Amino acid sequence: MKTIYLSAEDAATAVVAAEMIRSGELVAIPTETVYGLGANGLDENAVAKIFEAKGRPQDNPLILHISGPEQIELFCHHIPQKAYDLAEAFWPGPLTIVLPARSIVPRRTTGGLDTVAVRCPDCAVTREIIRLSGVPIAAPSANISGKPSTTTAEHVLHDHDGKIAAIVDGGPCRVGVESTIVDLTEERPRLLRPGGIGPEQLVEVLGDLVVDKAVTAQVDKDAVVKAPGMKYRHYAPAEPVVIVSGSREKAAAYIHRHFEPGDRVLCFEEELPLYEGCAPLSYGKEADVNTLSAGLFAALRELDDPSIHQVYARCPVGGGVAYAVQNRLKKAAAFHIVDAEAEA
Ligand code: TXA
Ligand code: MG
Repeated sequence: MKTIYLSAEDAATAVVAAEMIRSGELVAIPTETVYGLGANGLDENAVAKIFEAKGRPQDNPLILHISGPEQIELFCHHIPQKAYDLAEAFWPGPLTIVLPARSIVPRRTTGGLDTVAVRCPDCAVTREIIRLSGVPIAAPSANISGKPSTTTAEHVLHDHDGKIAAIVDGGPCRVGVESTIVDLTEERPRLLRPGGIGPEQLVEVLGDLVVDKAVTAQVDKDAVVKAPGMKYRHYAPAEPVVIVSGSREKAAAYIHRHFEPGDRVLCFEEELPLYEGCAPLSYGKEADVNTLSAGLFAALRELDDPSIHQVYARCPVGGGVAYAVQNRLKKAAAFHIVDAEAEA
């Protein structure tokens, strides 16, 4: 199959992409977080193609992308006021809400669950594709399962060229890490995945938030968890990654003590001079966490090279989107963290 390239700048793109979605094809779509691998979320056969293209486990549910809060009730029931409060505060934007699913949503889309995740992305061309197609677009991150997510059209083509009908190129993703996921199906709101909206911002609207255990620790692949996606090895380059925490100086001293030829260092731009001779790669500025979230997956993809032996990674501290960067890096490192302060 020849994958058709569509530019978001081109006036005809939304019409062409919407028609492909309607006819059951796979179309990669830009969003503010990461590129998605989209298909008609109400069409089981189309959705099956997503799982096949990604090599995604069948029990890992997909997010339905919708054009606005008014569509929530088409696909969900028992919708608490809190869902509308979140949508009002953060949509369009990097927030996904889990609610009880209406029967119109195929169980293939929800990975067999009776709940469904919905989100309205902050990307005009993608919202237009959703509107014109007349269906919600199911879209996981467009990476091959387990690999770092896709934040440019080039990443998507690297993973799927020739396997999908089209890609809509909207340029590099602004946020760079996936949406925050909040489950509203229980009495207390639960954070299933940190993302572009920080936990503090959620608490401001919800007044309360439980952080799921899968956010902060490795969960067993056989465990029953709220967000099935959280139990799989994720975002991981080919080689082991270890996070080195602690001050700039202590971390550099630790890494220099352990560094061997074939290793790489993933660090902040400000730290590059400290790692001369250690093949450092910067993913953004520590002083501007938005550059770190925007650059993380591209850097992890660059490091996805079997000839690399080991990666030492530096991780930002703090809340907001830094909390999501910590979560993705910890997952890439399978929660392998050394404290350079303690090693002195
Ligand atoms: O930013 C994003 O959310 C991107 C863009 C494309 O929108 N999408 C994305 O999809 O990250 P994906 O499939 O890579 O991650 C979706 C996560 C998975 O961990 C999945 O288990 C969880 O959402 N999820 C989906 N539906 C769920 C549900 N009903 N209950 C609990 N977790 C759910
Ligand atoms: Mg994903």
